[in-house]
Formats: sequence, structure tokens, C-alpha cells
Amino acid sequence: MSRKYMFLAMLAALVMVFALAACGGGGGAEETGGGDAVPPPAEQEVASAGDPEAGKQQFDMVCIACHGPGGVGVEGLGKPFTTSEFLLTVDDQELLEFVKTGRPVGHPDNTTGVDMPPKGGNPALTDEQLLDIIAYIRTLHE
Ligand code: HEC
Repeated sequence: MSRKYMFLAMLAALVMVFALAACGGGGGAEETGGGDAVPPPAEQEVASAGDPEAGKQQFDMVCIACHGPGGVGVEGLGKPFTTSEFLLTVDDQELLEFVKTGRPVGHPDNTTGVDMPPKGGNPALTDEQLLDIIAYIRTLHE
């Protein structure tokens, strides 16, 4: 008989532990759960990693020639970023692809009759630098 009570007592204790973990634990329950650990966060989207400060330095060397200081645009050259609708409709990844590809005169979206050269004509720019530039030009919109 006493063995049976022992068993019941242990069972009760177990039930308590589970109940506590389920009710009070919240996030803590996951840690003690064992099997179903939260997977590590997916590889950070490079897209949001841009550093606008570093981007400004690159911009002022490469893009400024056509897009002007602070992205105000240059008549007959690059379009302004301060009023660009386009910048508001694309995410960073799409913008990265855009800047890498450019928008030649023959492109249906070209409105100026002037080439937007791939990477602003500076093929040495890395994706990371371009994302910095993108983070910077996103700060220019009025
Ligand atoms: C040689 C001149 C030139 C340089 C240098 C240049 N661009 Fe451009 N860019 C243009 C022209 C011209 C357009 C507009 C093309 C058109 O008619 O749609 C443009 C358009 C753009 C647009 C689209 C704007 C919109 O509202 O449609 C983005 C974004 C852009 N450029 C980013 C950059 C970045 C970033 C750099 C530097 C890495 C850069 N450009 C360097 C000439 C240039």
C-alpha cells in the first residue's frame, strides 16, 4: 500500500511541476521544455544593416556628382531623392538591386533621358557600402 502512495505522491509532484511550468512560466517554460528550443534568429537581413554615416561618405564621393549634395538632384543629371516617390515604394533589397543595375536611357522607367549607371559608375562599391548609401539616402526624403 505505501508504495502506491509514494507513486501517487510523485505523480502529484510531477503534475504540479507541469502545471507551474504551463501557467507561471511564460517564456521560462520554453527553456525547461527541452525538445522545442526556439530556433536561432534567421540570418540578419543585410537590408536593414546600412550605416547612414558611412553611406554619406560614399554618397559624397560617388552619387553626389549627379544627385547633388544632400540628394537635391542636379538639373540634367540625377533625380532628386528629397521628393522621390520611387524611394518610398521599394524596400532596401529592391533598392540595392536597382542601384547595382542602374536605369539606362532605354529603360521604360527612365524619365530623364540620362543614364543612371550601375553602382553610380563605381563598380568597386560592395553590397555593404551600397546598403550604407541606401540607409543614407533614405534620410534625405522630405
Ligand atoms: C552619372 C550620373 C549618376 C550617378 C553618378 C548616380 N546616378 Fe542615380 N540616377 C541618375 C539618373 C540620370 C537617374 C534618373 C534616371 C531616370 O530617368 O529614371 C538616377 C536615378 C537614381 C535613383 C532612382 C530615383 C527615382 O526617383 O527614380 C536612385 C535610387 C539612384 N539614382 C541612386 C543612385 C546612387 C545610390 C548613386 C551612387 C552610388 C547614384 N545614383 C549615382 C544618374 C546618376
